[in-house]
Amino acid sequence: MITKKILVMLMDVAIVGATGYTGAELLRLLARHDDVDVCYITSRREAGKHVFKVHPHLKGVDKYKELYFVGDVDKVDADIVFTATPHGVSMSVVPKFLERGVRVIDLSGDYRFEDLSLYEKYYNIKHVGLPDVKIAYGLPELNRENIKKAQLVANPGCFPTGAILAIAPLVKEGLIEERVIFDSKTGVSGAGVNPTETTHFPNVNENITPYKITKHRHAPEIEKELNKIGRVKVSFTPHLAPITRGILTTAHAFLTEDISDNDIIDIYNEFYGREFFVRIFSDDIPRLTYVRGTNFCDIGGFEVDCHGRVVVVSCIDNLVKGASGQAIQNMNIMCGFREEEGLLDIGLNP
Ligand SMILES: NC(=O)c1ccc[n+]([C@@H]2O[C@H](COP(=O)([O-])OP(=O)(O)OC[C@H]3O[C@@H](n4cnc5c(N)ncnc54)[C@H](OP(=O)(O)O)[C@@H]3O)[C@@H](O)[C@H]2O)c1
Repeated sequence: MITKKILVMLMDVAIVGATGYTGAELLRLLARHDDVDVCYITSRREAGKHVFKVHPHLKGVDKYKELYFVGDVDKVDADIVFTATPHGVSMSVVPKFLERGVRVIDLSGDYRFEDLSLYEKYYNIKHVGLPDVKIAYGLPELNRENIKKAQLVANPGCFPTGAILAIAPLVKEGLIEERVIFDSKTGVSGAGVNPTETTHFPNVNENITPYKITKHRHAPEIEKELNKIGRVKVSFTPHLAPITRGILTTAHAFLTEDISDNDIIDIYNEFYGREFFVRIFSDDIPRLTYVRGTNFCDIGGFEVDCHGRVVVVSCIDNLVKGASGQAIQNMNIMCGFREEEGLLDIGLNP
């Protein structure tokens, strides 16, 4: 019997910072991506260890059976590199990859701002400067064409993803007054893998804690991206909720025209009609469990009160659409893969 072997060329990808939550989530999602091979993962703390030792939940993934952490980022060689590192660290490693012609998707805030003075004000560190390559803000639903051509994609922040998608259609149509208020509740994994007093179980459990009430660094990111499609002034307050994953955002704005709930639903259906990862809930309120583990952004609520206030609710998984899933969606767009490849999980409800 003659066996026909079809050789498929896989693209080599690497993850810098693969012990963290978003790095682990990249590994979970890429395990089922048919077009890529994960060839390097880095860690300072776990160098030399096998990936299953640090991430036991990945045990049994055949394509990772020879995958070990490397400590030296300079050893990393790949076609695409995900930098899942803290802000400040990304800007010290990304330029080295770009100089070698490697395309990079950075999950930190380091390359999200064209105006570095805004970055320095909110991140409180000096920026080394933007590289001379094509950089795209990686929110595919609003910026797909730029992502296709980019050498460096600045993956959006988790709160900005849910907030921008929640209100973009009304901003684009010019149907709301200038001021928009976002109230968000986030799960604890948003704070990364290292425990702190704030994320300590007794402090989180049975509490909802507002933080950085008016000064969160995601506020200017949301505002500057929305101002690319309309005119808005953004107020944003995040809250820490006793959940592991997920961000629920309630957006409040005031309408400039007398339009109904149904008109608003039509606008959202039209705006996101072709977007696989945005699901419009026309007669329901989204829930975090519907999106848990998925790359979906669910948007619903859609009500106008007697004062002309419109309320829209969005839900995402902060580690998937808010980070690693969106990063893979961006890679798929950059490389011409099917946009949904590796991202077809369904929500873990309940
Ligand atoms: N968590 C979220 O929901 C979320 C959402 C959107 C965006 N982000 C952004 O994504 C990035 C990663 O977030 P995360 O939550 O995954 O963070 P994390 O859990 O704290 O992990 C950070 C990773 O970076 C590595 N690292 C830290 N300092 C390093 C250095 N100097 N050189 C090389 N590697 C270094 C760590 O590896 P070792 O310590 O093992 O070396 C670790 O693997 C951050 O910029 C964050 O703001 C996070």
